[in-house]
Amino acid sequence: MNFDDLTRTERIIVCTGSGGVGKTTTAAVLAMRGAEHGRKSVVVTIDPAKRLADALGLRDLSNSPKRIDGPWAGELWAMMLDTKSTFDALVAKYAGSEEQSEGILANRFYRNISEALSGTQEYMAMEKLYELHEETDFDLIVVDTPPTRHALDFIDAPRRLTRFLDHRLYRILMAPTRGLVKALNVAAQAFLRTVSRVVGGDAVNDAIAFFQAFEGMEQGFKERAGKVGALLSDPQTAFVLVASPRRDTVDEATFFARKLHEAGIEVRGLIVNRVHPRFGEALPEALRERAHTLVGTDLGDLYTCLADFQQIATEEDRHLRGLAEHVAPAPVVRVPFLRSDVHDLDGLELVAEHLF
Ligand SMILES: Nc1ncnc2c1ncn2[C@@H]1O[C@H](COP(=O)(O)OP(=O)(O)OP(=O)(O)O)[C@@H](O)[C@H]1O
Ligand SMILES: [Mg+2]
Repeated sequence: MNFDDLTRTERIIVCTGSGGVGKTTTAAVLAMRGAEHGRKSVVVTIDPAKRLADALGLRDLSNSPKRIDGPWAGELWAMMLDTKSTFDALVAKYAGSEEQSEGILANRFYRNISEALSGTQEYMAMEKLYELHEETDFDLIVVDTPPTRHALDFIDAPRRLTRFLDHRLYRILMAPTRGLVKALNVAAQAFLRTVSRVVGGDAVNDAIAFFQAFEGMEQGFKERAGKVGALLSDPQTAFVLVASPRRDTVDEATFFARKLHEAGIEVRGLIVNRVHPRFGEALPEALRERAHTLVGTDLGDLYTCLADFQQIATEEDRHLRGLAEHVAPAPVVRVPFLRSDVHDLDGLELVAEHLF
């Protein structure tokens, strides 16, 4: 399947790769292609720089999808993931009552961690994906993953939430005060007294109130995390790897591909973005020799420039060879370094020409 086929047939495409390689840009292009195929497609971005909003000509995107008008047979929608409101909605959904939900949402500790909890953003991206998949009629959902410091945190995110809910301290705080558990509670309380001295009693009380407020909701959260995990390995979910031809990002992309493989997910396509052009077949050494014979002339300078370009192209090819083999038989597409940033629909179209 080439990239065009993916946008025509798959239900979910996840764009992943290291920071700044062009994930947001390619996610928008893939969603736009889906709309061109007559599908109702949505791109979900986590781009804090709001580049996608700019590129799509929308001042700001929000946590619910907005429709973008354009020359396509289907529909194109876009949304920007807001971690906090997604988490809030989740709490409201699994709370036993409105009271419980309000109690949690108003809790100071919750207000702090719902934004700061490590991996929350990754988890919320996957959560939103699941919600869109289950509760809306989009034919194609393209997810732009956050620039994670820890590669592929988002695959692990559902499991991480589950681990958090299984965490000993969480269990101790939640446990009924009886028998052995009571002894543990004494230990936990001693620990908490120490913690309170450091961070302040209010913070600890807030935390305890928070965990208690969560009572009875773990099961819902856990089941949900399991379903999100299953959705990621569904055959109609395609992971696309975005990389640039630089040595370091190629290494990272190779690492990503291996991690995905370990998680039982195969890369379905590789986009190499910002590739330098190759002008003809001449070797850089030969061009440099020629430049040498013309030294001091304009033509000599141009030959030097050409030699530099050929050398970059040759090195990029060398860097990419192993990665392409690694993801085989997935298709590999090169998108050249464009003259300017991609900041509007025309720019997206330009990338699309190369991608498809
Ligand atoms: N082929 C290209 N040629 C020139 N500029 C490009 C190309 N692709 C992307 N860009 C520009 O590079 C910048 C980074 O692209 P983008 O935001 O899509 O990367 P990203 O992987 O989403 O980054 P982050 O990891 O920070 O979210 C943007 O300003 C975009 O317009
Ligand atoms: Mg981005």
